[in-house]
Amino acid sequence: MINLKHMKILGIETSCDETAAAVLEANKGKFKVLSSIVLSQINIHKKYGGVVPEVAARKHVEHIIAVVEQALTEAKINDPKKQIDYIAVTAGPGLITSLFVGVECAKSLSYCWEKPLVAIDHVKGHIYTNCLEHMANGKWKFPALALVVSGGHTELVLMKDEYNWKKIGETLDDAAGESFDKVAKILDEIIPGEVGYPGGPFISKLAKKGNAERFDLPRPMINSGDLNFSFSGLKTAVLYLVRDNKEVFKKGDAIDVCASFQQAVIDVLVSKTIKAAEKFSINTIMLAGGVAANQELRSQLEKAIKDLDPKINFLMPEISLCGDNATASALAGYFKILKSDFTPYQKVKVDPNMEI
Ligand code: KG4
Ligand code: ZN
Repeated sequence: MINLKHMKILGIETSCDETAAAVLEANKGKFKVLSSIVLSQINIHKKYGGVVPEVAARKHVEHIIAVVEQALTEAKINDPKKQIDYIAVTAGPGLITSLFVGVECAKSLSYCWEKPLVAIDHVKGHIYTNCLEHMANGKWKFPALALVVSGGHTELVLMKDEYNWKKIGETLDDAAGESFDKVAKILDEIIPGEVGYPGGPFISKLAKKGNAERFDLPRPMINSGDLNFSFSGLKTAVLYLVRDNKEVFKKGDAIDVCASFQQAVIDVLVSKTIKAAEKFSINTIMLAGGVAANQELRSQLEKAIKDLDPKINFLMPEISLCGDNATASALAGYFKILKSDFTPYQKVKVDPNMEI
């Protein structure tokens, strides 16, 4: 029997370059984040211009215990064997060696504390960040559509009900966040030191001052007739634009490139989301993933949805929950726990290519 009162879930997340642990309390459908620790490795990877998987995994190994301990301490859990009810861990998709660290840690804790374990799909975790506040206010409703945009994923997910989810569109090459990261690298030639890794926050900040109509960049696959995406051609168009104007471009031009590029990405994301919403009758649209922190995307998508049908709910996580975090894993865990969908620790498998 699942006790729905004051259920405490320890979430663990190590799918990429954030070592994260969180304690979530679920009380009859209301959630309270008792702690959420995210130790980012950005400062280590930025000198390589991207995540180095071997380094990421080693850093997870070094820090995972301290991060879990801190999450327990902040949540005032003195006796986890008594106070923690369940453990939820991201088992995929992601970097295989990074995933192993979180999963092995969760398996050990499950064994030592004798707690049931749930294995989490990282993309679902991103989507579930939307239920943190909206479950209680009744806006977590189905059928729904989720746009997941991160450094590793660009997916449209149709959610018929709480458990019946299906991917209906995805990127055929680069993810949206990955294209921000690559364009930042390209612009480093023109404005060295002003754009870094990950590129999204730098580009979106610069884009605020730029002219988004200055450069006519492609909107790949915007009229493809399906719900898939492609961002590699857009990145290449920026590469050629910068290469051909290397001698003449100054900071102001680079800022206009940021704004024009960001608008091209947003146009495609918004257009495909609206097309999907028109195709399937849904009453809620959710945004999730690291790129969901982009303010322009948030406001333009919100406006497009209002224009389409003001009755559609639009949900987006607060900024701190857009990037990788373990609250997401614990939230996703809650729904698996409700179904008693546990995996014995001996059987939990890491799956770097896990699909919804
Ligand atoms: O979800 P996330 O933390 O990690 C993955 O699961 O991939 O997403 C990281 C991605 C990076 O590519 C980063 O550049 C992008 O999210 N990102 C942004 C913004 N903040 C982070 N992209 C656009 N605008 C932002 N403000
Ligand atoms: Zn992620």
